[in-house]
Amino acid sequence: MKDRIDEIQDRRTLDDEGLRMLLDTRDDAMVEALHERAREVAEERFGKRVYLRALIEWSNVCRNDCLYCGIRKSNRTVRRYALTREEILSSCENAWSHGLRTFVLQGGENPPAALELAGTVAEIHASWPEAAITLSLGELPVETYRLLKQSGADRYLLRHETASPEHYARLHPTSMRLETRIRCIRALKELGYQTGMGMMVGSPFQTTEDLIRDIRLIERIRPEMVGAGPFIPAKDTPFGNESPGSADKTLRLYSILRLMFPKLLVPATTALSTLLPDGRRQGILAGANVIMPSFTPATRRADYALYAGKSHEELQTIERELSAIGYAVSPFRGDYDER
Ligand code: 5AD
Repeated sequence: MKDRIDEIQDRRTLDDEGLRMLLDTRDDAMVEALHERAREVAEERFGKRVYLRALIEWSNVCRNDCLYCGIRKSNRTVRRYALTREEILSSCENAWSHGLRTFVLQGGENPPAALELAGTVAEIHASWPEAAITLSLGELPVETYRLLKQSGADRYLLRHETASPEHYARLHPTSMRLETRIRCIRALKELGYQTGMGMMVGSPFQTTEDLIRDIRLIERIRPEMVGAGPFIPAKDTPFGNESPGSADKTLRLYSILRLMFPKLLVPATTALSTLLPDGRRQGILAGANVIMPSFTPATRRADYALYAGKSHEELQTIERELSAIGYAVSPFRGDYDER
């Protein structure tokens, strides 16, 4: 087992059996050793520094009907909104004045609205040319991805959710296909976006083998970022009564990703801290190096409920938590660094 940790660190990969063992072992000492090794690797690269991203949830209008998601199209209980251009710019201003150097505009999948957003992206780029702009707007025509890139976007997050086509089909309506998702991710990379993919941990029907397939897909695509959080049931969805995913497994995954891809940007996700009170702290200590505090206007946060109890990360809390474990916020943009 110990040699598995050596092997994944030295070879930056591991066979299926080794991954299965790291993901499933009940040996707590080994899991602690895994986290410790990942933490060392992260520290060697990034120091005891964490990159912050200002999350601006710009709209919850979505054309998709993912079975797990609280803002799925057929959830009639959601009060739909889209931030105005002014609200988006003032959220950016707020984030910038607090020292954040990445703005993440995230929203439901809404291609016409995404196209219209290009103007606002250009304005953000012109107003804060030193800030990075990340988009997370779902599957869009390549032409829209291109236009948004030309408007000043630097990065794009599009989780693949699960690398198994059969599993994907059980989480999504038939109109959605894993193939399409992967095609979009590849297109984003080709357009020069720093690209993030990722999956939920412990979504209904997921097996360890599915998670291993996620890791293999990540090895093939080589994204710059991987976001992974535990599944959390969302009310008024078909999976509203399912059990949540495991925080422990999520943390193991962060460590595995850190050891396989030392340069990777790995957020300690909001879903993890929703499930685990000190999830951010534990995530960082397991090798994650990014936190995404919310800069969504307070009046809209409750309407962006992807899952039950979705917490919103507050900047002061994050700074306090980090300093308690000897870490600090990085003042830099935190682009993916090839070297
Ligand atoms: N639990 C955890 N994560 C969820 N997401 C959506 N719904 C849930 C849920 N119920 C995640 C998906 C999506 C991201 C924006 O939020 O992975 O890509």
